[in-house]
Amino acid sequence: MKIRVGVLGATGAVGQRFVQLLEDHPWFELVAVAASERSAGRRYADACSWKLDTPLPAGSRDLVVQPVEPRLECDLVFSALDATVAGPAEEAFAAAGYAVLSNSRNHRMDADVPLLVPEVNPGHAALIPVQRSQRGWGGYIATNPNCSTATLVLALAPLALRFGVKAVAVTTLQAVSGAGYPGLPSLDILGNVIPFIAGEEEKIERETRKILGTMSGDAVAPHPAVVSATTTRVPVVDGHTASVFVTLDADPGVEALEDAFRSYRALPQERGLPSAPAHPTLLAEGDDRPQPRLDLGRERGMASIVGRVRRCAVMGYKFVVLGHNTIRGAAGAAILNAELLKSEGLLGR
Ligand SMILES: NC(=O)c1ccc[n+]([C@@H]2O[C@H](COP(=O)([O-])OP(=O)(O)OC[C@H]3O[C@@H](n4cnc5c(N)ncnc54)[C@H](OP(=O)(O)O)[C@@H]3O)[C@@H](O)[C@H]2O)c1
Repeated sequence: MKIRVGVLGATGAVGQRFVQLLEDHPWFELVAVAASERSAGRRYADACSWKLDTPLPAGSRDLVVQPVEPRLECDLVFSALDATVAGPAEEAFAAAGYAVLSNSRNHRMDADVPLLVPEVNPGHAALIPVQRSQRGWGGYIATNPNCSTATLVLALAPLALRFGVKAVAVTTLQAVSGAGYPGLPSLDILGNVIPFIAGEEEKIERETRKILGTMSGDAVAPHPAVVSATTTRVPVVDGHTASVFVTLDADPGVEALEDAFRSYRALPQERGLPSAPAHPTLLAEGDDRPQPRLDLGRERGMASIVGRVRRCAVMGYKFVVLGHNTIRGAAGAAILNAELLKSEGLLGR
């Protein structure tokens, strides 16, 4: 018996990615889609302007879009809601007994809400019983990071594990699909770089330290590393690239860093979770890689692809990393979180 799932915000950029990735999922069956009152009451195929490069799954075309109210006939909801409405809506679903796997920023930094990357901090799922008891909820909220943080943290984790991380400076080059659909006007972004994305730098700086942090009693103690981010929007459709500078506790040499990226495996790979990439970090070959157009599809968009690992005269080491913003940075991340929580006995009956 598959677990029945719904998608809140199913008509948007991330919502469509959920619908695509949930087609034929071995554990989950998509039975409900919900969105704003502009879409509610319409067939999914009519309400959304499908933008992905695979056909809209046949099983989802005729689902009727429902309002975002906790009356959906399912046990778990993935949330891809606009952040202006996600906060109270997700709380209402959790209070009504649903497991809420959210992409939105609203609850990520709440002390009793896990911000999960299954390879990096599966133990933070221990916040779920704390959250349920503190809030008196039958359900719960578990979140995945902001899209750039998701890419960055998968690359930092093997370094933190082997060598210790003291300081991180990162500049991102973020794709247009990260702004949702329809996103930025083409006249603003074509042939241009926009050196500001509201709230994004703070998210990377805070979320990275929470994810790399450790459980201490009933809370997460953030990782002590200092993190400084600059975020930019570039005319790329999908795929966030980041230029990363890092100071480690040790000085292991470039080859040791490359080996750490190449050999990194963790719990989702050991358990064989259905959406887990075989290699959560991949080392791209070639001085001019990774590139969004050439490398984004590797590991079905679920890996961070690292390249150009080299010494840095200022921070110690530097490298470039690329990740898929709507797959590992959003829908794919939430689905992998749900798989982790199911394997922990925290989902379904
Ligand atoms: N795009 C990315 O790469 C990315 C990555 C990580 C996280 N996120 C986060 O994921 C969430 C969704 O992002 P997105 O890029 O998919 O945005 P989007 O394309 O703008 O989609 C937003 C969704 O929210 C629904 N919505 C908007 N206002 C609503 C309301 N008042 N009541 C109920 N539903 C409402 C929309 O429904 P209608 O179609 O009916 O308006 C649509 O389904 C955001 O919180 C975003 O920050 C996005």
